[in-house]
Amino acid sequence: MKQDKNKVNPKKLIIYYFSGTGNAKNVSNWIANILHNYNYDVELVDIGKIENRRKIYLQKDALIGICSPTHGFNFPPIMFHFILRFPKSKNNKLFIVNTRAGMKMGKYFLPGLSGLAQFLSAIILKFKGFRIVGMHPIDLPSNWISFHPGIKPTVVQSIYSKRKRETERFAQKLYIGEKDLKALKDIIQDILISPIAFPYYIIGRFVLAKSFYASKDCTKCDLCIKKCPVQAIKTIDNRPYWTYKCESCMQCINICPERAIETAHGFVFGAWFLINSVILYYIYKAIPIYDFLNSFLSTWLNRLILFFFNAFLIVGFFILFYWIFHFLIRFRFFEQIVVYTSLTKWGFWRRYKAPRI
Ligand SMILES: Cc1cc2nc3c(=O)[nH]c(=O)nc-3n(C[C@H](O)[C@H](O)[C@H](O)COP(=O)(O)O)c2cc1C
Repeated sequence: MKQDKNKVNPKKLIIYYFSGTGNAKNVSNWIANILHNYNYDVELVDIGKIENRRKIYLQKDALIGICSPTHGFNFPPIMFHFILRFPKSKNNKLFIVNTRAGMKMGKYFLPGLSGLAQFLSAIILKFKGFRIVGMHPIDLPSNWISFHPGIKPTVVQSIYSKRKRETERFAQKLYIGEKDLKALKDIIQDILISPIAFPYYIIGRFVLAKSFYASKDCTKCDLCIKKCPVQAIKTIDNRPYWTYKCESCMQCINICPERAIETAHGFVFGAWFLINSVILYYIYKAIPIYDFLNSFLSTWLNRLILFFFNAFLIVGFFILFYWIFHFLIRFRFFEQIVVYTSLTKWGFWRRYKAPRI
C-alpha cells in the first residue's frame, strides 16, 4: 500500500447497486468496508429503493460504483435503464462490477458470461464524462434456479471465500488509484455472446416474469411481495401475481419460507409451443404480412419489422395466457398438473441464498 490511511482526507464513495439474491449486495459491502477502513465516507444506494430515479445529484470528486448481477448477458433492465438515465459527470472516477454465474467443478472455478454488461455500460458512462477506473466481474454462485438446482452450500462457501478475497484486492486497487480493467480480458467472448442480450431484453425477460406462481402451499404471508426489490408482485384473487415489472431476480422463489413459489416449466414450454407453432402460424396464414411488406420494403427492413412484430405478439400472448393460467390455478386439477410439471417442485431442486456477510 502506497498511502497511509491516517494521512488521507475523507473522500466520498457512493455505490449504486441492485441485487436479487444478495451476491451484488455482498460485493458492494465488501468494497465499501475496505474503503471505509481507508477513511472514505461511504454510501450504499439500493437503486430499487430510489423514489425518484431521475433525481440523482453527483457529488463532485466522489468515487462512484455501479454493482449489479448480470441478467441475460447484460445488466438487468432496472440497472441498465438507471445507467442510461445517470447524470453526466465532470470527471468523477467510476467503477463497474457485475456479479456473474460462477460455478465449481471439482477443484476448478468456472466463470459466468458478462456479454454487454461491462463494455456497453462503460461506453455509456464514458460518454457521460466519467473516468472508468475499474471494470471487474465477480463470479459468485449462480442464482438462476429456474434453470438449474441451487448450488450446494459447501460449494457456495468455497466460491464465496475465493471471490471475497478477489473483491477486496480490487477495492485496494481503487484506494491506491491503480486501474483494474479485468473485464476487458473477456471482450472477445463478450462481443460474440452479446447478440443474445437483445432477444432477452425484448422477449426473454417478459416470458421469465410470467413463469412464477405460488402453489397451494402459499400461506399468504406476503413476504415475496414485501421483499421484491422492484415491487413487481401484487395480490390478485388472493394469491401472488407477477407483473411484467418483474426482473426475474430470483429473490421471491428463494426466500419463500414454504417453498411455495415455483417456476412453471410446463406452462412456459406449453405456452411457447402453442404461441409459436399454432397461433403465430395461423396469424401469418390469415395475414400474409411478410409478402405485403416485401412489396415495398427491402428484405432486411422487412425482417426487422417482423422480428419486432413477432416479439410484440409473443409477449402479448404470454401476458394473456398468464391471466388465464392465474385464473385456472385455483382449480385443484389444473394446479396439480402445473405443480408436477415444475422442476423447481422436486425435492432435489435446491434454493439459493447468498451467505449473509
Ligand atoms: C434471469 C437471470 C439471468 C442471468 N443471466 C446471467 C448471464 O447472462 N451471465 C451470467 O454470468 N450470470 C447470469 N445470471 C446469474 C447471476 O448474474 C448471478 O448469479 C449473480 O451473482 C446474482 O446476483 P444477485 O444475488 O445479486 O442477484 C443470471 C441470473 C438470472 C436470475
